[in-house]
Amino acid sequence: QAQDAAAGEKVFAKCKACHVADEDKNKIGPSLNGVIGRTAGTHPGFKYSKPMTEAGASGVKWDDATLTEYLKDPKAKIKGTKMAFAGLKKDEDLANVIAYLKQFSK
Ligand code: HEM
Repeated sequence: QAQDAAAGEKVFAKCKACHVADEDKNKIGPSLNGVIGRTAGTHPGFKYSKPMTEAGASGVKWDDATLTEYLKDPKAKIKGTKMAFAGLKKDEDLANVIAYLKQFSK
């Protein structure tokens, strides 16, 4: 699946009510600045659900594969997550929004 960060910026409009990626600032959801490679549930200053914290403790890290699973069906990947988002159904939207997030991760 090819990744297109510019197209991903448009997909990210669905996330913006709750997240920023270009700054290290928490909103309703944790900042997604630097999220690629980060252990789940570990952004400082954000109060995660217990299941998200436990996912991180059990070794879940955010990469192409884990982000694709979570963003496709958040409640299936992390049962009890407090992210109130139905998920992205199109493979291209998933790939592109991840490409967008990569721009803000080293
Ligand atoms: C958590 C991405 C939409 C609220 C997360 C995490 C990611 C993510 C990667 C885990 C971050 C971490 O472990 O630090 C996205 C993307 C979205 C989206 C790419 C759009 C496609 C939303 C929306 C909301 C939201 C619309 C609010 C209605 C949250 C909350 C958490 C979270 C509250 C913490 C979950 C928990 O502790 O269980 N999101 N999100 N997100 N997101 Fe989103």
